[in-house]
Amino acid sequence: MKPSYPYYLANRPVAANTALDVLDKFSGKRATRVAMADATAVRKAIVAAHKAREAMAAFTPDRRRDVLEHCVRRFSERFEELALALCIEAGKPIRDARGEVTRLIDTFRIAAGEATRSGGELIELQISERTRGYRGMVKRVPIGPCSFITPFNFPLNLVAHKVAPAIAAGCPFVLKPAIKTPVGALIIAEVLAETDLPEGAFSVLCCSNEDASLLVEDERIKLLSFTGGLIGWDLKARSGKKKVTLELGGNAACIVDADPGASLDHVVERLVFGAYYQSGQSCISVQRIYAHADIYDKLRKKLKSAIAALRMGDPRDERTFIGPVVDVDAAKRIESWIDAAVKGGAKRIVAGPRDGNMIPATLLEKVPRDSDLYRKEVFGPVAFIEPFDDFDKVLTTVNDSDFGLQAGVFTGRLDHAMKAWDRLDVGGVIVGDVPSFRVDNMPYGGVKDSGLGREGVRYAIEDMSEQRLLVIRDPTEG
Ligand code: SIN
Repeated sequence: MKPSYPYYLANRPVAANTALDVLDKFSGKRATRVAMADATAVRKAIVAAHKAREAMAAFTPDRRRDVLEHCVRRFSERFEELALALCIEAGKPIRDARGEVTRLIDTFRIAAGEATRSGGELIELQISERTRGYRGMVKRVPIGPCSFITPFNFPLNLVAHKVAPAIAAGCPFVLKPAIKTPVGALIIAEVLAETDLPEGAFSVLCCSNEDASLLVEDERIKLLSFTGGLIGWDLKARSGKKKVTLELGGNAACIVDADPGASLDHVVERLVFGAYYQSGQSCISVQRIYAHADIYDKLRKKLKSAIAALRMGDPRDERTFIGPVVDVDAAKRIESWIDAAVKGGAKRIVAGPRDGNMIPATLLEKVPRDSDLYRKEVFGPVAFIEPFDDFDKVLTTVNDSDFGLQAGVFTGRLDHAMKAWDRLDVGGVIVGDVPSFRVDNMPYGGVKDSGLGREGVRYAIEDMSEQRLLVIRDPTEG
């Protein structure tokens, strides 16, 4: 990591007077400093993006692809630097950090492919005598300047899911990264600054939420894409006429059927990954495990020993599975939810004391249905297990949540898989794996409180563009 990073205003680095310390999440020490933008810089970035909208729309698809391919190349060259930055600023275990850099590259590569595949449609308008000689065609045009607000848990890939489709779609943008983990976004900006994107095409500004208000409210911005907590609904209420996409998390469930369709050892391996990788700080982390009564005891026992064996410690250590959560406040909140659930009757199967912002992997059972741990998004290394004996009923139980992002189902029965797909009120059903599974070209997003719209490059490009119709009348016909 460099000792300091500038912010990027209208494609150019700016070393501001005010800087923010970014902490190493494991040691708690300062890792680097980033320049802080103020409301004036945010306004300038919006003006620049607004000015750049025509140049970006005219920046041809092959040139957009070239920019995205340049990023793929540079991220591959800077792979270890990016992984280490993530490991330090997010406390992400180095193996998970490398996984995220791989996905960052995937996301840009997918976008490079999509840039020259924007498609369109021919529409048959000759549906009656009145319309003889008329032909219709639809193409996609960029929606215009976009604003993006990204969370701390995937400082590279959740930035990529906004930036790469915007470039492919031809939209200028202003991005505010999470203030606790801004370095990933600033390195992406550094690489974008090496390209020939039109002036004003991008700004990446670390700033306070207050100074970022214009990103939500300014009418020159045509789309706001936000990933984070339930505050997203408040942003939507303030966003005026712009399009809004929200990815706001969940309390993801995973069903393990009487016949899980795979060995219990495999199921346990996947559940442990889904619930505890990067300390559960993922919107699709496994939080609720519903296991059929026939296999409950066996699964419980296997989970207990697998979780107890997870290694917690320094995220730089290749053997570490559980690193810190983002800060002590988050750790205290998670701890208080565990304690409250236990007070309400929950039993700890695997647990341990909090140490600063380190929370050991925790598994509980008999968690009260009205507890925060059951109903809200834990965003920490905590899951619980509950038995069921009727597949139809467990689908209703999974749906008994304010959220609906993704759900996992381990079942050997095709009828159960299809029923889950039909009936689960979520954005995605993953059969044969945990809800935490994601590939970066699949539609990703939720229903209910989990959000609005879908990411996954092609789906984000659809949001970042408008359909424009052309009707042509052939005067020789009709
Ligand atoms: C998220 O936390 O929403 C992102 C999950 C992922 O990309 O794997």
